[in-house]
Amino acid sequence: MKLAVCYHSHHHGNTRKVLDAMALECDLELLDVAACQSAQLKDYDCIGFASGIYAFEIHKSVVDFAREFLPARKPVFFVCTYGLSRGTGFKALTDLAKLRHCPVLGEFGCKGYDTFGPFKLMGGLAKGHPDEQDFQQARKFLRNILNQL
Ligand SMILES: Cc1cc2nc3c(=O)[nH]c(=O)nc-3n(C[C@H](O)[C@H](O)[C@H](O)COP(=O)(O)O)c2cc1C
Repeated sequence: MKLAVCYHSHHHGNTRKVLDAMALECDLELLDVAACQSAQLKDYDCIGFASGIYAFEIHKSVVDFAREFLPARKPVFFVCTYGLSRGTGFKALTDLAKLRHCPVLGEFGCKGYDTFGPFKLMGGLAKGHPDEQDFQQARKFLRNILNQL
């Protein structure tokens, strides 16, 4: 199985840490959308899209990347980290997947250290996350994705 995750992770690298944990389960190619001009996503069996939640949404660069490169009917999954709540952060990706007839095999989210704006003055939100338990859940999630392929 060939899997890739297209991701953006700049605040504290929280999302990247979760993806690194997932990568222990299989051969998972991690594509940083900030560093990729293009991608041949048709070559993969399943594609993940991942970032922190910024202003209630998955980072725009990840959604734009998906809009440009996600082939029709490709199985997908979504991953995020968040300070407080993931809310409806996957909505843009969910809508796009529906439009392209891409089955969504799963969604994963966990807390990620957040020092945005005033939270920095309080020592930040979700300090210590993602932690070992988050990584275990992330690996379990990926095993479940693999079982569906
Ligand atoms: C500009 C900015 C906006 C954010 N907005 C939200 C938000 O709306 N909801 C939330 O729960 N966390 C929010 N966060 C916290 C991040 O989602 C969280 O720290 C995440 O783990 C960052 O991922 P990263 O380190 O991979 O970039 C925000 C952080 C930043 C820097």
